[in-house]
Amino acid sequence: MNTEKLEFHTGMNYPSLFSPLQIGPYQLKHRLALAPLTRMRAEKPSLAPRPLNAEYYAQRATPGGLLIAEASPVMATGYGSPGVPGIYTEQQIAGWRKVVDAVHAKGGVIFLQLWHVGRVSHSSFQPGGVLPVAPSAVTIPPDLKTGTADGKAVTYETPRALETSEIPDVVDAYRQAAKNALAAGFDGVEIHGANGYLIEQFLQSHTNLRTDQYGGGIENRTRFLMEVTQAVIEVWGASRVGLRLSPYGIANGSGEPDPMPLYSHVVQSLNPLGLAYLHFIEPRSSGAGRAEVNHQNVPSAMVLFRPIWKGVLITAGGFTGETANAAIAAGHADAIAFGRIFISNPDLPRRLQRGFPLTPYNRATFYGGDVAGYTDYPAHDELAQA
Ligand SMILES: Cc1cc2nc3c(=O)[nH]c(=O)nc-3n(C[C@H](O)[C@H](O)[C@H](O)COP(=O)(O)O)c2cc1C
Repeated sequence: MNTEKLEFHTGMNYPSLFSPLQIGPYQLKHRLALAPLTRMRAEKPSLAPRPLNAEYYAQRATPGGLLIAEASPVMATGYGSPGVPGIYTEQQIAGWRKVVDAVHAKGGVIFLQLWHVGRVSHSSFQPGGVLPVAPSAVTIPPDLKTGTADGKAVTYETPRALETSEIPDVVDAYRQAAKNALAAGFDGVEIHGANGYLIEQFLQSHTNLRTDQYGGGIENRTRFLMEVTQAVIEVWGASRVGLRLSPYGIANGSGEPDPMPLYSHVVQSLNPLGLAYLHFIEPRSSGAGRAEVNHQNVPSAMVLFRPIWKGVLITAGGFTGETANAAIAAGHADAIAFGRIFISNPDLPRRLQRGFPLTPYNRATFYGGDVAGYTDYPAHDELAQA
C-alpha cells in the first residue's frame, strides 16, 4: 500500500472530511471513520479474532483515523450469527490485542462496538439451545428470516422475556466486556444501541411490554441503555465511550411509531454524560447490511438531532465523499462513518481525498468466508500497477 501521507487542510473556512477533529482524548487527523461492520470471519469455535482480521483492520488504518471495529457480543447469549468475534473470553481478548496492535502500528485509533442481539438470534446459537432473551416475548415478524447455526433459513422464535432480576447480570456483562476491551488495548468502545438489537428492543415501545422499572414510559424504557452506558463509563471514562443509535430505523423488525419523543429524551439524557461521540445510522440506509436500500422520504437523523445533541456527532449511511464533505461543512455532522465502500476500498481516505475512482463492493462476500472480499480488495496504487 502507498505510504504517501494524506494532506490535511486546516486553514479553510469550513471543516471538511480532511480537517482534524478532537474526539475525547484523541486528536483525529481526518473525519472519515470506518463504520462498524460485521464480517463473520473470526476463528471457530473460539470466536476469537485471527491474524486475517488484524490484516483487514490494518489495511483500513490511517494515522489519526478512527476505526470502529465490528459488533462483538459481550456474552454468550448475545450471539445471533456465526463467526462473529466475541469480547468475553481470554482467547478473544488475545485475538483482539493483535488487531489493535496492527492498527496502532499504523497510527490508527480503534474503538470496539459492544453488542447483544437480544431477540435477533436463534436457539441454535444459545448456550444449551434455549430461547434467545429479550425485554419481552415479542417475535420478529415472519416476513424476516434468520439462519440457524447450521445454516438453515427459518423464521424467528419467540424470545424469552428477561426476569427483572436477570437484568443486572446483562449490565454486568457489558461492564466486563468493557474491561476486556481495555485489556485488549482498544482506544475506546462504542455501545451498539441501534438496528433492532437488545438495547433498542428495550427503547422501543413495540418490543418492550414490560411492567417493571425497565418498561412502560419513555424514561423506564431508556433505563437499560442508561445503566449499560454508566457501567461502561465506569470502566473507560465517558470521553472514550461512544454510542450508536438508529432512530427511524427499520432493521431487524425495529421501528418506533413516533420516534421523536423517545429519541429526543434519549439524546437529552445522554448530554450531561460527556460521551466521546454519538453515532447515528441515517434512516435512508437502514437495513443496508441485509440488502441494497435507499429509503426515500425519510428524515435525516443528523439534521433532526444535531440541535439537541451537545457533543461530537458521527453519522453513516449512503455517503459519498461529496455528500460527506457537504454534511460536515454545513455543520450537520462532525465526522462520517463509511461502511460498504470502505469494505471494497481499503485506502478509502486517500481515494476520496484524491478523487480516485472507487472499487465496487461485492455483497456476496460481506458475511463469512475468508480472504475473498475481505483482504483482497486492492489499494488504488496496486490497481494502477496491475
Ligand atoms: C456488511 C455489513 C455489516 C454491518 N455490521 C454492522 C455492525 O456490526 N454494527 C453496526 O452498528 N452497523 C453495522 N452495519 C451498518 C453500517 O455500519 C453502516 O451504518 C451502513 O452500512 C450504512 O453505511 P454505508 O452506506 O456507508 O454502507 C453493517 C452494514 C453492512 C453492509
